Amino acid sequence: MTRIRPLRRADIPQLQAIDQVAHGESWSEAAFVDQITRADFRHLVAETEAGDIVGHAGVWRDGRALRITNVAVDADAAGRGIASSLLLDLLTHARDCDRLELEVRPSNRGAQRLYSRFGFAPVGVERGFYDRSDATGSRDALVMAVADPTSAAWRERIDALRRTIDDRTRSNDTNKGEAA
Ligand SMILES: CC(C)(COP(=O)(O)OP(=O)(O)OC[C@H]1O[C@@H](n2cnc3c(N)ncnc32)[C@H](O)[C@@H]1OP(=O)(O)O)[C@@H](O)C(=O)NCCC(=O)NCCS
Repeated sequence: MTRIRPLRRADIPQLQAIDQVAHGESWSEAAFVDQITRADFRHLVAETEAGDIVGHAGVWRDGRALRITNVAVDADAAGRGIASSLLLDLLTHARDCDRLELEVRPSNRGAQRLYSRFGFAPVGVERGFYDRSDATGSRDALVMAVADPTSAAWRERIDALRRTIDDRTRSNDTNKGEAA
């Protein structure tokens, strides 16, 4: 079982270690501290019962737009719905936003699949967005957005996704309990 809670200062070294593996680089300590202290940021972590951080995600509130700033999950904890749960929590708090946006590497198909389940669709390309090239030599970002997060259809999609993730997490936990 993992629980989702707001980022604390003491978590920062664990987040930096996760990001080094997930992204090949990490934000500075000061950048993470901003995530805690600034009112326009919200940053959540996923923590195991043993107190280990296995994932994190954040958003930046830019007027009526909400931008996803970072999502990363420890490779050992991947495929258990942790990124989905973090995003569900962050996006549920975005009910009055009229635009949701993010940037993702065009080569990062797994993350794009995750975001498309939340209704994000490609809307453009930002050339030279990343400081570092990826394995394909590209520094470009694919921009993905949810055009109308205030619509009933999008809210229903998010509610359905939450039910699916909750069901799968419950069944994973039950199977783990039976195997123990
Ligand atoms: C992309 C990333 C954030 C996904 O994290 P994750 O926690 O594995 O994501 P989820 O578990 O929510 O979803 C991944 C898969 O597990 C499945 N899944 C979701 N909940 C599940 C559950 N409870 N049990 C089993 N599988 C589940 C999802 O359906 C999804 O399937 P897919 O591979 O067909 O898309 C992670 O791989 C990562 O950190 N990558 C490197 C950094 C990165 O790319 N960040 C995003 C771009 S900035």
